[in-house]
Amino acid sequence: MTDLKGKTLLASGFHAPERGSIDELRDALIAVREDGVIASVLRPGDEAYEAAVGAAARAGTLVRLPKGHYLLPGLVDLHVHAPQYPQLGQALDVPLEVWLHKYTFPLEARYADVAFARRNYGLLVKDLLANGTTTALYFATIHRDATRILVDACLERGQRALVGKVVMDNADQCPDYYRDASSQAAVDGAAELIDYVRAHPDNGHGLVSPVVTPRFIPSCTDASLVELGALAKSCGSHVQTHCSESDWEHGYVLERYGVTDTAALDRFGLLGRLSVLAHANFITPDDMDTIRVRRSAVAHCPLSNAYFANAVFPLKAALEKGLNVGLGTDISGGPSASLFDAMRGAVMASRMLEAGTDPDVPPERRSSRRAARIDFRDAFHLATAAGGTALDLPVGQFAAGYHFDAFVIDTEAVGGTIRLQEDLDRGEAILQKIVYTASRTNIATVWVGGRAVAGRFPS
Ligand code: GUN
Ligand code: FE
Repeated sequence: MTDLKGKTLLASGFHAPERGSIDELRDALIAVREDGVIASVLRPGDEAYEAAVGAAARAGTLVRLPKGHYLLPGLVDLHVHAPQYPQLGQALDVPLEVWLHKYTFPLEARYADVAFARRNYGLLVKDLLANGTTTALYFATIHRDATRILVDACLERGQRALVGKVVMDNADQCPDYYRDASSQAAVDGAAELIDYVRAHPDNGHGLVSPVVTPRFIPSCTDASLVELGALAKSCGSHVQTHCSESDWEHGYVLERYGVTDTAALDRFGLLGRLSVLAHANFITPDDMDTIRVRRSAVAHCPLSNAYFANAVFPLKAALEKGLNVGLGTDISGGPSASLFDAMRGAVMASRMLEAGTDPDVPPERRSSRRAARIDFRDAFHLATAAGGTALDLPVGQFAAGYHFDAFVIDTEAVGGTIRLQEDLDRGEAILQKIVYTASRTNIATVWVGGRAVAGRFPS
C-alpha cells in the first residue's frame, strides 16, 4: 500500500459532483498535498497537464494506476450503529419497538465492557474501510469509555468519522439496565465526548468530529432534548437522531407532542446545517420544507427500511424538493456493511415505489407515486458527493480543496465479481457495472486524507 501524501496520482475513474450526471476522469492527474488535501486535478488537454506529469515523474512522486483500475471517491455512510456490528445479519424478524428491547438494547448494554468494545469497534472500522467507507457517521452507546474507544479506533485506523455518545434517559422507553443515570448525566456525557474528541492529541487534523446524539425522541426526556439542542448550538457540533422511521415511532411522537418528529426536533433546536436525520420515511410536505429551510440532511437507509420502516422513503420527492439526502447502512437494522448494497437498495426501493407492489391491483392504480425512480448515477452521487454535502465536509469528489478520500476498484481482481467486456463497456457503463456488481475483493486500495488505510496497492 502506498500513501499519496505529497504525491501525484495519474488515474482514470469516476465521480459525481452533481446529481444526475457522472463525470468521467480519463488519465486525470491528481496532486495531493502533504496534509492529504487535493491541490489540483488536471486532465489531458489542460495547459499545465504535460508539464505537471513530467515534473512529478522527475521528482519521483508520480503514481500510476494500472489498466483496469478505476478511482472512485470514498463512500460516506450517514448512519451506522457501531455497537450493533456483532448483530449484523441477525434479528430481523420483529418490528422496531420489539427489536430494540429484545435484541438491540441487550447487545448495546454489553459495551459497558471496554474489552468487548475495543474488539468489536476495531473490527468494524477495519471492515468498513475495506468496504470503501472512508467517512462514517456513528451512533455509539450510552457509555462514555466505550464511546472514547470508538473515537480512538477511528483515529488509529485512519477513518474519517463523526461519533456520538447516545442519549437515552427516558425511563418510560429505556430499560433499567440500559439508560442514562439522569438527564444531567446524559447531557454531561455528551458534552464530555465533545471535549474529548476536540482535545484528542491524535486529532489535530480533525479527522474525527463529535456528534450530539439523542437516540430518538422516544428514548429522551424533554429535559435532555432541550439541553442537547442548546449544547449543539453552543458547541457548533453535528447532531444525529432518528426521525419518523416507522408507523410506531412516527405515531409515538405525534401522540406525545401533537406534531411530527421533524416539527418536534425543530422546536428543540436540533435541526441545523449539521443535523442528519435517519430514515425520515413519514415526513410530510411541511416537514420537507422545514428540513430544507434548516439545511439539515436525511440519511436514507433502504435496506433497514425494508425490515423496520413499514414504508418506502419518498427519495425522489425529497431530492426534487431540494433536501440534502445521502445513504446509510444503518448497521444492524440493515444487514449489510457495504454502501454498495445501500446504493443497490436505494435504486430497487425507488423502482418498487414507482411501480407499486400488489400484483392484484391493475398497473395504473398499483402505485400512488409516479416518477419515483432513481438510477445508479443518483445512487452513486448520494453515496459520495451528497454524503459530503450532508455533513458539510469537503469529501466525496475530486476537486482542489477536497480531502483525498478515495478507493480503487480493480475490475480484474482475482475472485472479483465484475466482468467488463472491452467492446461493450465504455465510459459510465463501466461505473454502472461497478455499482451493481462490485464486491469487496474488487476494492484494491482505500485512502483517507491520502493515507492508505485498507486493501493492497495494485501492482
Ligand atoms: N430507532 C432507535 N434506535 C434505533 C436503532 O438502533 N436502529 C434503528 N433502525 N432505528 C432506531
Ligand atoms: Fe438507526
